[in-house]
Amino acid sequence: MEVLDYDTVILGSGLGGLTTAIHASLKGQKKIKIAVVTKLHAMRSHSVSAEGGISGVLYPEATNDSIELHAYDTVKGSDYLADQDAVEILANSAPDEIRFYDHIGVSWNRTDSGSIQQRPFGGMSIPRTAFAADKTGFFMMRALYDEVVGLGNVDIYHEHFVTSLFMDGKRFAGATAIDLATRAVKLFRAGTCVIATGGFSRVYGFTTTAHSSTGDGIALAYRAGLPLKDMEFVQFHPTALVPSGILITEAARGEGGYLKNNKGERFMEKYAKSKMELAPRDIVSRAIVTEIKQGNGYTHKESGMPYVHLDLTHLDAKLLDERLPMIKELSIKSINVDPHTEPLPIRPAAHFTMGGIHVNTHGQIMLDAKGVPAGGMWAVGECGCVSVHGSNRLGSNSLSQCSVWGRIAGNAIPEYIQKNPSSAGKDILKQAEAEEARINGLLENRGTVNPYELQSRLQKTMDDLVYVYRKTSELTAARDAIRELRGQYGDIYITDKGREFNSNLRDTLEIENLIDLAEVVVEGAIRRKESRGAHAMVEFPKRDDTNYLKHTIASRKDGGLGIDYIPVTLTRWEPEERVY
Ligand code: FUM
Repeated sequence: MEVLDYDTVILGSGLGGLTTAIHASLKGQKKIKIAVVTKLHAMRSHSVSAEGGISGVLYPEATNDSIELHAYDTVKGSDYLADQDAVEILANSAPDEIRFYDHIGVSWNRTDSGSIQQRPFGGMSIPRTAFAADKTGFFMMRALYDEVVGLGNVDIYHEHFVTSLFMDGKRFAGATAIDLATRAVKLFRAGTCVIATGGFSRVYGFTTTAHSSTGDGIALAYRAGLPLKDMEFVQFHPTALVPSGILITEAARGEGGYLKNNKGERFMEKYAKSKMELAPRDIVSRAIVTEIKQGNGYTHKESGMPYVHLDLTHLDAKLLDERLPMIKELSIKSINVDPHTEPLPIRPAAHFTMGGIHVNTHGQIMLDAKGVPAGGMWAVGECGCVSVHGSNRLGSNSLSQCSVWGRIAGNAIPEYIQKNPSSAGKDILKQAEAEEARINGLLENRGTVNPYELQSRLQKTMDDLVYVYRKTSELTAARDAIRELRGQYGDIYITDKGREFNSNLRDTLEIENLIDLAEVVVEGAIRRKESRGAHAMVEFPKRDDTNYLKHTIASRKDGGLGIDYIPVTLTRWEPEERVY
């Protein structure tokens, strides 16, 4: 087996992974050896799909904005589940991150006077979302990627699928990855690791996310015995195009778009009178589903999907072309609707997973619910639950989160390496060889179950039973269904036995990750007998701070799933009723 020795290995190459690589490299004066391991080509990481923008207070005097107000909006948006110390770090650091992207060449939209333009986003009191048309993530990724390839001490392993994490006691020791081009299993040995593999919205079928959003790093951490936090909170983006789920950015409403039901009413007036279409996503998604349930929606002929309208027809054509060009192009190409002349059919789709690997405010991965950090391990971006989003993320706060904690983790790595030399050795190689044997064993499995059938049953279960509104009976049915899928996974059959780009093998491993994570989502949801943010329980319609103002911690214990709770950190804002 090929063994590759590094000082640090970064799993994932989206905004979180690449910002970590840059800051670790610069802080270590380009002297530490860094590997970025990614299952895609780095420039196909899901961050390139981010559309609407990145939040941060840039011009407080001119706009009457403040860091405190950004933090407050975020805490309120989170339905008070966010850790307020983490939120304060986010709000304080985000402006510098936007300026950093400016320095490395992101082509922000600008005002006539040359300032970075900022647009309104849901739940934000002031327009504070910086953007590059509706392709913000792509422009940010392009600038980061250019930086990373110029550093000289970062090797990017494109198309390497990570299968396992190894610990040496309480310390990170290494990871195995399949080189997808050849199917060779390689061992990456390093004393430090950053998991930046993104979220897992692909547990759902109707989602705005890429097929690659399978939560691999979160599942690997879970299987390595590391705890996950607040996994029951899944964000449904209100405006996914029907029938594909393609994201229609919230910026479409930020720029003035309306949501209308089949009576032509701007129905948000009934649900969030002061914010209307720019209420936070949990509220807008519930409003759409409620309208549909009340018979105020439409039905898509071919798919049977219900939907409402996102109406942009009143917007200036020039504005659409300058600020939402991709939305226009995607709508025309995918459903032959020009948003300038006809409303778009939309409904909520799984978009972002608020939960993830349990990390502290330094981005360090915790060993357990008690808050003891694992040695040399960080998780950044969507896969790390820090928690700044609590039970409901405000749009555009995720790009800031990736950037802020990418920098924090990156800056910490060189000093950690210097103070804690790694001694991972032969045992790791043995474990890696066992992992290689496990993968080969999967290929030799003579079972009867088609893994793609398991995937579509999983996604249908989650779409039907764990959507915007949840019921205990449906959640328990989902749990039973997921457990049955887990049982059947042992009997899968991988058709492709080949070595070159065996996507059948990769997909099968991803499906196992999805099954594990879906079970954690559902278990956490069953046990949270309240409604908070994106977790809306029909039987428990109110938030219950007395019993549930706490984070859910899920860990694999003795082969089963154990649940603990830890308190939420409150600094300045006492929970209050959330009215918009
Ligand atoms: O609607 C959007 O552009 C998505 C932004 C986000 O999820 O932050």
